Amino acid sequence: MIGYRQAKWKEPLLFEVSVPGRTSYKLRGADKEIKSVAGSLKSMLPSEMLRTQPPSLPEVSELQVIRHFTRLSQMNFSVSSGTYPLGSCTMKYNPVVNDLAAGLNGFSWLHPLQDASTCQGALELMWELEQWLAEITGMDAVTLQPAAGAQGEYTGVMVIREYHKCITQECEQRNELLIPDSAHGTNPASAAMVGYKVVVLPSSPDGLVDIDAVKAAAGPKTAGLMLTNPNTIGVFEKDIEETAGIIHDAGGLLYYDGANLNAIMGITRPGDMGFDVVHMNLHKSFSTPHGGGGPGAGAVGVKEMLEEFLPVPRITRTDEGTFDFKYDFPRSIGRVHGFYGNFGVLVRAYSYLYSLGSEGIRNVAKNAVLNANYVAHHVGQIPGFTLPFSKDAPRMHECVISVEELKEKTGVTAMNVAKRLLDFGVHAPTIYFPLIVPEALMIEPTETESKQDLDIFISALKQISKEAHETPERVMDAPHMTAVGRLDEYRAAHPRTLTLSWRMFQKQSKDK
Ligand SMILES: Cc1ncc(COP(=O)(O)O)c(C=O)c1O
Repeated sequence: MIGYRQAKWKEPLLFEVSVPGRTSYKLRGADKEIKSVAGSLKSMLPSEMLRTQPPSLPEVSELQVIRHFTRLSQMNFSVSSGTYPLGSCTMKYNPVVNDLAAGLNGFSWLHPLQDASTCQGALELMWELEQWLAEITGMDAVTLQPAAGAQGEYTGVMVIREYHKCITQECEQRNELLIPDSAHGTNPASAAMVGYKVVVLPSSPDGLVDIDAVKAAAGPKTAGLMLTNPNTIGVFEKDIEETAGIIHDAGGLLYYDGANLNAIMGITRPGDMGFDVVHMNLHKSFSTPHGGGGPGAGAVGVKEMLEEFLPVPRITRTDEGTFDFKYDFPRSIGRVHGFYGNFGVLVRAYSYLYSLGSEGIRNVAKNAVLNANYVAHHVGQIPGFTLPFSKDAPRMHECVISVEELKEKTGVTAMNVAKRLLDFGVHAPTIYFPLIVPEALMIEPTETESKQDLDIFISALKQISKEAHETPERVMDAPHMTAVGRLDEYRAAHPRTLTLSWRMFQKQSKDK
């Protein structure tokens, strides 16, 4: 076990250490240059847009800035300092080479309004990425425009609605989307935003979609079914082909929530399971971190009969091998994002796939599944920790553990376990999700954790279980070794109680 104690700096704000006139290094002779650029910019701007006062910025040296942010980072947690098994978020280590690719001048200095003839390389990259993602998911066409998984869902569900409007012409009558009770919350939210009534499908005692419930719910009102496979408890929906048949026979379409492709990429494809639409979170499986607040990319893939409804512009390749934007899709749902999506995320995804190749991608999935099963096997045996549902079914990229038994015996809850884990230098797993598992810990180790690191994680949980039985208050008061102790969960998340800017801070100090 690694001894862990998080740094605890009493760090002032940069504004508080600001000294008038202090700057970072100066380049000899650059002053003249800067003044002349500033002068010509000033003459180009309308006078009403010019500042009358200089901006209020902290005046500090370069070293002060470096130390300030280094200290703040030491009081934080990241995948660079320890295991980050945040279930459903795929907080894996993303190779730096993919960041370097996104930072290349030719990519990072592009302007979205540039003429297509001047950014052929970028268009080729996006076009090729679309082809690769179509291949990985078993779809015929892909858009890279949506900026998040939830926006991908919204786009995909809009496409389903357009299909029923234009092709089956049953849009009015088909106003229901079927969604399992274990689904990610964004699924019913996206369906409702597009105007669908959500019909909740209960899970079977095995934690899978209940086939009888699908049969009972599917009918002339069904626009489609939204499903995650492997599902939210980490188990593969083995009856997926039968489920797809029931929905298609009823005239509906199948939507695959592919936010987490880590378990299946290179192994099996939603298109081959019978799905018609899929979104992928490139900011999970494809080398941009999720959970950092963005930016993301929720690419959407569709089967051929749905291609005409995808957002515009589409990227096309001419017979001569050049690339262009095409807007001429009269039945497109329109734009869902400015320009062509978050380009930097797309470059990372391209670089990731290019560097791994098809064998590498398959190995990612195999290792992600192996790691999740290793954790499920060992954690499921810790006193107070149980593996709910389908005990014998292998887990895919993640496993959900319940500590309900621990709570009953010792009073220690999933929240307490999560907080105490921080004291071992491990980020907490997702907790209390999915809702169908009481006192849930949703653990996604990802393929990038070594067996040694997984063993540290497992032994930390063993230690917590021991403490819960012997000195429960030690767990209930946690964390003890972090920069800040137990936070008030409500106040920490409520914008009214947070001071979000220096200006707010100054105003609050004056009001006091
Ligand atoms: C299964 C699933 N679907 C959808 C989403 C939504 O993705 P995003 O957070 O990018 O909107 C997530 C995010 O964690 C997810 O795990």
